[in-house]
Amino acid sequence: MGYAEVYNRSVNDPEGFWGEAAEGIDWYKPYDKVLDDSKAPFYHWFAGGELNTCYNAVDRHVESGRGKQAAIIYDSPVTQNKQTITYAQLQQQVSLFAGGLARLGVEKGDRVIIYMPMIPEALVAMLACARLGAIHSVVFGGFSSNELATRINDAKPKALVAASCGIEPNRVVPYKPLLDKAFEMAEHKPDHCVVLQRPQGPGEMTAGRDLEWNESIDGVEPHPCVPVKATDPLYILYTSGTTGKPKGVVRDNGGHAVALNWSMKNIYGMEPGEVFWAASDVGWVVGHSYIVYAPLLYGCTTVVYEGKPVGTPDPGAFWRVIQEHEVSVMFTAPTAFRAIKKEDSKAEHLKRYDMSKFRALFLAGERCDPDTLGWAQEILERPVIDHWWQTETGWPIAANFLGIEQFPIRPGTAGKPVPGYNVQILDDHGAPIPAGQMGRIMIKLPLPPACLPTLWQNDQRFQEAYLSAQPGYYLTGDSGYLDEEGFLYVMGRIDDTINVAGHRLSTGAMEEVLASHPAVAECAVIGVQDTLKGSLPMGLVVIKSGVEQDEESLRKELVAQVRDQIGPVAAFKLVAVVKRLPKTRSGKILRAIMRKIADNEPFQPPATIDDPAILDEIRENLTGIGYAEGKKG
Ligand code: COA
Ligand code: AMP
Repeated sequence: MGYAEVYNRSVNDPEGFWGEAAEGIDWYKPYDKVLDDSKAPFYHWFAGGELNTCYNAVDRHVESGRGKQAAIIYDSPVTQNKQTITYAQLQQQVSLFAGGLARLGVEKGDRVIIYMPMIPEALVAMLACARLGAIHSVVFGGFSSNELATRINDAKPKALVAASCGIEPNRVVPYKPLLDKAFEMAEHKPDHCVVLQRPQGPGEMTAGRDLEWNESIDGVEPHPCVPVKATDPLYILYTSGTTGKPKGVVRDNGGHAVALNWSMKNIYGMEPGEVFWAASDVGWVVGHSYIVYAPLLYGCTTVVYEGKPVGTPDPGAFWRVIQEHEVSVMFTAPTAFRAIKKEDSKAEHLKRYDMSKFRALFLAGERCDPDTLGWAQEILERPVIDHWWQTETGWPIAANFLGIEQFPIRPGTAGKPVPGYNVQILDDHGAPIPAGQMGRIMIKLPLPPACLPTLWQNDQRFQEAYLSAQPGYYLTGDSGYLDEEGFLYVMGRIDDTINVAGHRLSTGAMEEVLASHPAVAECAVIGVQDTLKGSLPMGLVVIKSGVEQDEESLRKELVAQVRDQIGPVAAFKLVAVVKRLPKTRSGKILRAIMRKIADNEPFQPPATIDDPAILDEIRENLTGIGYAEGKKG
């Protein structure tokens, strides 16, 4: 069957389509219904079914003879470590750690926050939660104590699992003090914290609350898999919304296992036993889905890479890993390739490696500029596939399909809608937009399996944020168009989030931090173009009248404040002190216009602008710091 047939079947007969895909998963109890639509717009996949995601990702492979196959290959240039963990070893480690968590009182439905870098123990902790039916919530290491505390308060975990430190190429990042500060700040106090002490930066333990990883498993019995409902949550993953309060995206067990397992063959063209590498981080959705769950559900080997595309030690790092671990398919963000291109534009390092096992590169996380895609394709001489997805969906919405039908690569498009996603381009009133014209990208309900059923304990916010723009549709928050042949072009966000190095960040959250500085009267944060990271946040601030503070010291304080309250991952380093901000007569700040000025792009001031002269002031200011007319290239 070609793409058109597979896709049409998925939207015309979703129950038949996903019922068949569900045969790839082992169930303790068969589901009553493939799709339960009785509570629409809340849809539930595989209602009545029972399974265990960890069993499907680990134990069943041991039982079917894959025990000696590598499940995880850990490759850490920052610690000079490498380690291979077979499926049998993984089963042992996970069942023991699950036993340890159970001894601490963690049970089905309890939450566990995991704050760990790219080490195998992060996967062990996630799978151990899944084994118990506990709900994990992984927090990316580049977030600050404040962000961690916000997530602790929302998820109300019974326990935390952390590493004592993360390792960035230029420094050791002590996680333990960040964790202790988050404990202090949070109103909810988890009972226990299991700490993996790393020799590069051990942390101080708090008696009575903290215990070391080894201590937590000392003398425990391996814990069996606990059956959970298909509709029970597997994890919560927080993602930036338009305010400072992140959204807790919920992922269920059944739909997630079915869709991810299906995706490995049909989208990525993988076979069980092959090596898949997602160069991301377990703290992001790409890491959850394609470092941990999908490769393991499908019986592949996954690579856990603790390093960067450049600097660890050179821009040949990716090719080395591909050669050494015989990677078949790799997945990363375009920004990683821009970083490599910047340091090795002729790909000299690539010549040193044997890439014969490598079949394809998938890119996602941000819009892939045609230059980067073209360059990657030229040097790799393999398909380079841009595909589009979000934390909320958990797997691609648009892609190219190595296991169904591979379309010729066209730079600029993220491919065609993935089977199960009824993608439509609608205008602001809900009317369909003809091919070739930009509009809001919406998905007709129901969303396919694995997509978020709701936000953690907040059905109302889920409905308001995603379902209220157009009844019967999910609002992706992205704008774009479909061409005559059905290829989708994803052009940008329609909300106040920006994409920095493949990470979605909230400008609203950064504005909240800037506004809390005593010298700031008002402020705006916009995303300006950046050749490496795609975009970077820039703060425009107005100093309160009567406040005497020199601009340089204010800039430093604001940069430090965002780093402290959101984290280094925000990459907030640009601040322009301006006299006034441009607004409409009704007081709305004109962020899109300021973005165009900063990027030195043409624009039409809106008729409703209060005082057009402010735009010239802003242009002058931004030119002074190397943006607007001062922009190079
Ligand atoms: N723990 C602590 N700090 C972290 C961190 C972690 N896990 N990850 C990143 N940081 C820090 C970085 O050290 C950096 O700090 P700095 O301001 O002191 O330099 C800051 O957060 C910003 O990080 P990042 O935006 O990732 O920039 P970078 O310069 O470290 O690396 C790239 C740039 C392009 C090499 C890197 O972003 C990359 O490899 N991205 C592609 C893969 C990816 O992550 N994709 C995600 C979605 S698929
Ligand atoms: P996140 O949930 O952090 O992974 O961010 C998801 C957002 O990143 C999407 O809504 C898009 O705005 C953007 N994005 C991800 N992949 C792509 C892509 N292939 N093309 C364009 N934008 C993308």
